[in-house]
Parts: sequence; C-alpha cells; structure tokens
Amino acid sequence: MNGTSSAQLFLFLSKNKLLTKLAKKYGLRFGASRFVAGETIEQAVEVIKQLNKKGLAVTVDYLGEFVDNEQEANDMANHCIEAIEAIHREKLHSQLSLKMTSMGLDISEELVMRNMRRVLDAAKRHDVFVTIDMEDYSRCQKTLDIFKRLKTEYDNVGTVLQAYLYRTVSDIEDLKDYHPNLRLVKGAYKESQEVAFPDKKDVDKNFKKIIKMHLLNGNYTAVATHDDAIIEYTKKLVKEYNIPNSQFEFQMLYGIRPERQEQLAREGYTMRVYVPYGTDWYGYFMRRLAERPANVAFVLKGIFS
Ligand code: FDA
Repeated sequence: MNGTSSAQLFLFLSKNKLLTKLAKKYGLRFGASRFVAGETIEQAVEVIKQLNKKGLAVTVDYLGEFVDNEQEANDMANHCIEAIEAIHREKLHSQLSLKMTSMGLDISEELVMRNMRRVLDAAKRHDVFVTIDMEDYSRCQKTLDIFKRLKTEYDNVGTVLQAYLYRTVSDIEDLKDYHPNLRLVKGAYKESQEVAFPDKKDVDKNFKKIIKMHLLNGNYTAVATHDDAIIEYTKKLVKEYNIPNSQFEFQMLYGIRPERQEQLAREGYTMRVYVPYGTDWYGYFMRRLAERPANVAFVLKGIFS
C-alpha cells in the first residue's frame, strides 16, 4: 500500500462509528497513549505539568466526535469546563481547544451557542484562552460565522484556518478586522479537489502565504506544524519584518517531535503542545496515523513486540 492509499484508509477508518464506540469501551490501545495524554482530566493534568516543567505551553483538548444528541453536547461542554477549572486550580500554563461539533454544531445553532457561551464564560472567569479547532470543509463556513459572533462578545476565543483550502486566503482577509488569534495548519481531513489543493507542494506554498498575510496584518499567529521548512520560513520572516516573539508561537501535537518542541522553547519561542485526552481517542488517533507512515510502523511495533 502506498502512502496516499494508507492515508485514505486511516481517514476512512477515522469516521467509523462502530469502531469509535468499541475503542471507547476498551480504552487506550495500539500505542494511542503516545498521542493521547490519558482518559481522565487527572491523567491529563500530570502530563501538562511535565510539559510545563520543560518550558512548554499547552492547549488541552477533551476528545469527542460524532456528538448527535443534546445531552452528549451538554456533557462535552461540562468536560471542557472541568478542564478549565483544573487549569486554574493547578496553575497550569495551558489553554483549551475544542471542536464545535462536540458542542452541538450539527444539532442546532441554539444548542452550540449556549454551550460555547457556557465554556467561554468559565474560561473568561479563569483567564483561559479557547481555540475552536477547524473540522471538515462542510462545517467551515458555519464555524467561522459562529466564531465571528462569539469574537464580538469574548476576547478569549480564537479559531483555526487550514492552508489546504482554496478559500483560506480570502478568510484571512475577511477576518482581518476582528484581530483574531488564529492557529494556522495544513489541514487534516480528506477533502475533494473542488475545495482543497490536491498537491502537497501547493498546500505548503499557501501555508507560507497565509502565515505572512496574518502576521503582516498585525494579528497573533500560531504556526501549528511539525514541518521544519515551515518553521524555518516563519523564523526568517519574523526576523525580516521585525515581528516580536510576542506576536506568534509554534504549536505541535503531543507525542510528535518532542525533542524539536523542547529545542524551539530553548531558542526562546513560545512552543505550545496540543494535548488531547478522553475516552473518545479513536478518530484523533486514526488521523495521526493517516498523516505519517512512520506513525503506523510505530503502532505495528507496539502491537507485535
Ligand atoms: P506534514 O504532515 O506535511 O509533515 C511535514 C514534515 O514534518 C515531515 O515531512 C517531517 O519532516 C516532519 N514530521 C512530521 N511528523 C513527524 C514525526 N512524527 N517525526 C519526525 N518528523 C515529523 N488540522 C485541522 O484540520 N484542524 C485543526 O484544528 C488542527 N489543529 C491542529 C493543532 C496543532 C497544534 C497541530 C500541530 C496540528 C493541527 N492540525 C489540525 C493538523 C494539521 O492540519 C496537520 O494535519 C498536521 O499538523 C500534519 O501536518 P504538518 O504541518 O505537521 O506537516
């Protein structure tokens, strides 16, 4: 199987509801604990403390996919509030990330707004910043519409734009005057070439373009990537335009390139690690396997050794 077809297989598997349910029931398996900090907030807190000790900032994410009823969405919001309270209580250097589908985006606008406001009120009380992850293309417009509404009510909220989408350059322009704190990423979902660059080279080119646009617009930029070429590009760019370290940060996922994370922190950059936890680890884990064949080799080693 070549890289592209294995990636497609893992992205297909990431959406399987039965496997998601089974994974929840049987707990962290197949080496998922390399990428997932545990199933409970207590386990996540221990991991965050260790990362903070190494000079790494964190954004913590309570994992949840396929939320399709109101009770589940309310429970997800409660978990987010629990995480915010833990950040405050334990004095962690951590923000929160969440997916709007887990707050009820696919159920009703009234529900998602109610849960988002509950979470953002708690976050504001405890001075915690919240990033709304970006999901697949079909939810992009809705996510941005809701983000804009929330941004007029709250300072402590940001979102994500994906370099693989054709629309992202105009989204950067459209959001400019909201002065958003944006995380910029390549994009993790399987999208059609009607809406996304099929060629990785074009994604990388667009990634550089949107990093430059957002930084030169004067807005806070989180460059979320494990790609050294993009990291080096960002370092050069900020030097060239005298952009202070306080206007940008690097972000990477928990378990991926940990030595590089520590190195960037030692160089004086803000380095934030995205730390997921929770029982619903399956879809997240499958997307990580889709991104990199070496991750699959790691998992197979874990199963067979
Ligand atoms: P890519 O996968 O192209 O890798 C580039 C290079 O990085 C590789 O060639 C290799 O050199 C190096 N590399 C990668 N993995 C490595 C490893 N394990 N060991 C050594 N080297 C490695 N997506 C999304 O759609 N919505 C979202 O909200 C988010 N949120 C998010 C937050 C954070 C903090 C991160 C880091 C990422 C996301 N993503 C995301 C995922 C993102 O879209 C993307 O799928 C992954 O980051 C992988 O893309 P890279 O930019 O890392 O480059």
